[in-house]
Amino acid sequence: MLPVLLLLGTLQNLVVAETIISVPNGAPWGDWGPMETCDEDTIIQGFQLKVEKPRGRLIDDTALNGIALYCTKNSSWEVVKIIKSAEGPFGTWRPVIWCHSGFLKNFTLRVEFKVRGDNTAANNIKFTCSDGSVVEGNGLSWGTYGPWSYDCNKGLRGIQTKVQGRRGAFRDEVGLTDVKFMCR
Ligand SMILES: *[C@@H]1O[C@H](CO)[C@@H](O)[C@H](O)[C@H]1NC(C)=O
Ligand SMILES: *[C@@H]1O[C@H](CO)[C@@H](O)[C@H](O)[C@H]1NC(C)=O
Repeated sequence: MLPVLLLLGTLQNLVVAETIISVPNGAPWGDWGPMETCDEDTIIQGFQLKVEKPRGRLIDDTALNGIALYCTKNSSWEVVKIIKSAEGPFGTWRPVIWCHSGFLKNFTLRVEFKVRGDNTAANNIKFTCSDGSVVEGNGLSWGTYGPWSYDCNKGLRGIQTKVQGRRGAFRDEVGLTDVKFMCR
């Protein structure tokens, strides 16, 4: 009897639990911010990156510092809410990037983290839209893209980012290090 009950318990967890998609190549530093979500009757068709421009050869770089998602009404593209989780202190918000049609569905993260001296952690992100097209962020190009996440078949619903805060002038700072998304 016991194994059956355990199995039922597990199945129930699978059904109830929210699906989170992630990638294995995030950098290890920093702390996770809260999971922030769009309302259930909206979809996510666009995103925006906060990026620190390259600062020159001898100055510490942090590259990607924030990711915001645009919650829109299905069909009208009207923005209802903009969500973001933890945000690094460096850089500025760049123009929003939209799917040509449909919603954001899976992602891959560009990360630099085994460099001696000046690591920047996350640099850029690419999403696949539900129409099959791939949209790339306007981040920087250090590091490499890792494997794609699983798909959110009905699109993304929430975002959680991991960020390292200020560490002072003489220590390597990296900004945003990892990200996860909740599915609808
Ligand atoms: C958006 O609306 C269309 C048409 O009403 C519907 O077919 C589609 O399933 C909706 N998409 C989502 C993600 O809710
Ligand atoms: C994620 O997107 C990529 C690129 O569009 C695609 O090749 C892949 O099949 C998608 N899904 C998964 C689970 O990798």
